Amino acid sequence: MKILITGANGMLAKAVKKRFEKEELILTGSKELDITNAQKVAEFISSSNPKVIINCAAYTAVDKAEEEKEAARKVNCEGVKNLAIASAKNNSILIHISTDYVFGGNLPLEKAYKEEDPKEPVTVYGITKLEGENQICQNTTKFYIFRTAWLYGEGNNFVRTMIKLGKEKNEVNVVSDQYGSPTYAVDLADIIYKALEKKIPYGIYHATSEGFTTWYNFTKEIFKLVNIPCSINPVTTEEFPRPAKRPKNSMLSKEKIVKQGIIIPTWQNGLERYIKSEISQK
Ligand SMILES: NC(=O)c1ccc[n+]([C@@H]2O[C@H](COP(=O)([O-])OP(=O)(O)OC[C@H]3O[C@@H](n4cnc5c(N)ncnc54)[C@H](OP(=O)(O)O)[C@@H]3O)[C@@H](O)[C@H]2O)c1
Repeated sequence: MKILITGANGMLAKAVKKRFEKEELILTGSKELDITNAQKVAEFISSSNPKVIINCAAYTAVDKAEEEKEAARKVNCEGVKNLAIASAKNNSILIHISTDYVFGGNLPLEKAYKEEDPKEPVTVYGITKLEGENQICQNTTKFYIFRTAWLYGEGNNFVRTMIKLGKEKNEVNVVSDQYGSPTYAVDLADIIYKALEKKIPYGIYHATSEGFTTWYNFTKEIFKLVNIPCSINPVTTEEFPRPAKRPKNSMLSKEKIVKQGIIIPTWQNGLERYIKSEISQK
């Protein structure tokens, strides 16, 4: 199967590349295919004729986006629109990754967001990602949108940052009132693979690891697995201000995708495999 992966140098793309290594892959970074260039996107997709397009390209700098609204919109909305139009014209399946930030984050903590819950993004990043989702729904029918959250994998990410800090310091402050699901990029790549293999119905699905935690408890688990004696102080979101507002509730219900027979590992299981395969040996 011929598959085009856009944004091929990104964190998720690296895991997707590995999961789909037996397929005929066309890999494009932003230099080879800038998704904001409508004409290039149309020409590239028509001439390479992929059966599936996995869009891993995005503007992902959540805080910087607050000041770079147009730059974020260009990639996350216009770029995604270009891919949606070109994939519809070429009859390709478009797979796109979205985010928990399309929600407002104020849902009571005993509930997790379902796919159809009201979208109330409160950050520029979230607004532009929601616009991208809408462009797909308006311009093509053969699509999967997987909303994920708290992603880590190859390259810089929260786990690596905390390991580095934990080794350098005696204590760290970590936010303990935001809830979500840390998600190993390898496990998200596997969900994408299985969705295609099983030909689940097109549409929007939540796709994070199973189980929920806080950044504080996530850090506790990381330090336990890597044997880091650094102590962790729980702090509130208000004590840790960031340019872009962070959702308190980032919990996404996986009921819809699980009903399709896709089994998702827990975040603890994902973290353990990540540490064993990508941290311990280095
Ligand atoms: N990371 C998370 O915690 C998280 C959480 C929820 C959802 N997501 C979503 O998951 C997806 C993958 O995220 P990630 O963390 O793997 O992202 P990432 O590592 O930041 O990679 C994004 C890639 O997009 C490419 N890109 C940017 N502008 C482009 C353009 N105009 N044309 C083509 N490529 C372009 C970049 O390429 P260059 O570097 O070559 O410019 C970069 O390699 C994104 O859709 C993101 O919104 C991520």
